[in-house]
Amino acid sequence: MKENKPTILMTYELPGDWQGETLKAYNVILKEDQDKGITSNLLEHLPDAAGIFCLLDDPIPAGILHSAPNLKVVSNMAVGVDNIDLAACTELGIPVGHTPGVLTDGTADLAVALLLSVCRRLPEASEDARQGKWSSWNPTGWLGTDLKNATVGIVGLGKIGYAVAQRLSGFQPRIIFNSKNPKPEAAHALNARQVSLEELLRCSDYVCIHTALNAETQGLIDKKAFQLMKESAILINAARGPVVVTDDLVTALESRQILAAGLDVTDPEPLPPDHPLFKLDNCLITPHIGSATHHTRRSMAKIALQNLTAGLADLPLPHCANPAVYQRSRIKDF
Ligand code: GLV
Repeated sequence: MKENKPTILMTYELPGDWQGETLKAYNVILKEDQDKGITSNLLEHLPDAAGIFCLLDDPIPAGILHSAPNLKVVSNMAVGVDNIDLAACTELGIPVGHTPGVLTDGTADLAVALLLSVCRRLPEASEDARQGKWSSWNPTGWLGTDLKNATVGIVGLGKIGYAVAQRLSGFQPRIIFNSKNPKPEAAHALNARQVSLEELLRCSDYVCIHTALNAETQGLIDKKAFQLMKESAILINAARGPVVVTDDLVTALESRQILAAGLDVTDPEPLPPDHPLFKLDNCLITPHIGSATHHTRRSMAKIALQNLTAGLADLPLPHCANPAVYQRSRIKDF
């Protein structure tokens, strides 16, 4: 009977209790190697594939889509879909599922944790304590920076940027933000001011990146941006690595053009263990764990499976990243 079931390609095996019975109705082809994307054993099943379930670091380029004439849905277990050629999916009439909303709080919490860890130098202080360098209470040791009355600049005021601003407002900083569209209501609710990117970079003590990665934001924080920033500035990136030009960041941190950085995302990802950023004591790096709580990841998996099964049943996806796909006839229906 297996051959009657729709084929789905999965780049990652979800824990049994996260998938429940959902996948029993399908001929599931699981990826057998560690490479990213649709590679190895998945390739031979592409012509039959009705669905793809993938992760944020699995590239899904147009070439893969064109080799899958029966593909009805791509379901990404992430809110960001920069790993997928969205335009090609729309062109081919393939809806792309993603998981917005459920990871807003977890990711915002992580961004705030990074900011506090960097500004209060927690990794360094903790390591010194562990290594026996805590010989007395030291009035001038491990001094950090304050949030109260400091200026926090949020780059990208989507759901996550907004949630970060909400959390940080309890620490009583001034909040400014930069966003593509005017956001007077958000500005009012957050007691924040919308400013140009240039003003944000010049004025902020903390620059927090929360924008999606796209053609406009790739490389947004480059050498010129670092030149505008304060020497005392701390950069936090919990969005996507390529928004920041890595080599320019290394130079800015090495030369103390800015004070420090906290990164949950990098370019490339993963960052090789011998990368210069790992050698810097003013850079804290976590391995893209913004959404890594039990509750959040389980919720993301649930939504990703709902998107997948809806697409396989020719129903609208509960969370579709390319809704334009529904505004045109499906090419394969002709
Ligand atoms: C995390 O980075 C996501 O896009 O879900």
